[in-house]
Amino acid sequence: MYEKRISEIEQLIHNQNRWRDKCINLIASENVLSHRARSQAGSDFAHRYAEGHPGERYYRGTAFIDEIESKLTANLKVLFQCTHAEVRSISGTNANEAVFSHFVKPGDVVLVNSTPAGGHISHHREGSIGKFTRNIIDIPVTPDGYHMDVDKTIYLIEKTRPTVIVLGKSLFLFPEPVAEIAAACNTYKVRILYDAAHVLGLIAGKQFQRPLQEGAFLMTASTHKTYFGSQRGIVLSNMEDNDWRKIDRGAFPGSSSNHHLDTLAQMAIATFEMMEFGEQYAEETIKNAQALAAELDRLGFDVQGKDFGYTQTHQVAVNVSAFHGGEKISRLLELNDIILNMNMLPHEPLNHHAHPEGIRIGVQEMTRFGMGEQEMGRIAELIKECVIDRKTVKEEVNRFRSKYRKIKYSYDAVADKPSTPAKSKKTKK
Ligand SMILES: Cc1ncc(COP(=O)(O)O)c(C=O)c1O
Repeated sequence: MYEKRISEIEQLIHNQNRWRDKCINLIASENVLSHRARSQAGSDFAHRYAEGHPGERYYRGTAFIDEIESKLTANLKVLFQCTHAEVRSISGTNANEAVFSHFVKPGDVVLVNSTPAGGHISHHREGSIGKFTRNIIDIPVTPDGYHMDVDKTIYLIEKTRPTVIVLGKSLFLFPEPVAEIAAACNTYKVRILYDAAHVLGLIAGKQFQRPLQEGAFLMTASTHKTYFGSQRGIVLSNMEDNDWRKIDRGAFPGSSSNHHLDTLAQMAIATFEMMEFGEQYAEETIKNAQALAAELDRLGFDVQGKDFGYTQTHQVAVNVSAFHGGEKISRLLELNDIILNMNMLPHEPLNHHAHPEGIRIGVQEMTRFGMGEQEMGRIAELIKECVIDRKTVKEEVNRFRSKYRKIKYSYDAVADKPSTPAKSKKTKK
């Protein structure tokens, strides 16, 4: 539609700001920037280029971004205890592409998590990795669908001799068995690429597995799901310098030119917040996900992963096929200002992708707004009232959300003084 008035666009931006501020936001791949990080958007860096590395740029005028980028890289190496950090990728997919383009060759066999079992599209035939090889084999999973079948995977490694196994997923409830397959991968020279897009903030907060220390050759990630933002990507590793040069070329010029300096500066701020508040935030996030899962189960939902404690991440997966499936339920919840997404579950065939049985819930954003286990109980009730009792809960959702508007786990409150909520109280059963 042809639109002549700039004010229409400005109005739409305003509408979005107002609307999502009233919603219970439960998309598992999103988060919010602190005000301190957000207020740096639109700095002069938004207009600039800085191809190359700090001190060795192809552009002039980069002295300040050189310092910021160097400090960010140094902090990431400390936070993730690694020797290399690539910060120029502008998204998680872009980071994956930087890696795949140099470590996956035509004809190579690669093992990945299937889409229903949670694998991301960039690991698949139609996505980034599919540009480099077509020999893509799904990692076998245990009958519950949420765990790798380690014995079968090792057998597959021996039989098919992949060059790369991609771990980490989009539907991600439990840690990957990196240490369990590391010896077999060493024997057969298989590189473990761990995609931590969803769990980067939980790893930074030391409440999840440590892939690089457990045997992963490298780790890619988005920086805005459980990590505090901005929207970018990274590659981290302890690999040899020779191999790292390939990642370096993969990032630039391989998969990007300008690396979006304003969001890079915001990411440097968010990384300070993660270093300061990450542990408490990650602990609270996982507790919240477990509390929400248990309460949804008690209220009559088919919560996935029950035999394993539901979840060890920020995510909760629910089979809503008894209530017309994920597509309908996510729309119904959206009408009531509860925002989450539909999701395929591991037992589903690929052709279910537009009408899957599941929904995926992430609690990281609401945790960042200071919600605890008690609030998770209230969210579960609101979801139940909407989905099972078919009540309209929008007004109550807005009223409830209005009490949680300040971003915690940040320096927002006063200058450098931290803003962290008190530890949450247990939900009364
Ligand atoms: C496992 C995984 N890897 C990579 C990505 C891609 O990240 P981005 O959206 O930053 O490109 C996602 C996004 O949801 C993901 O879930």
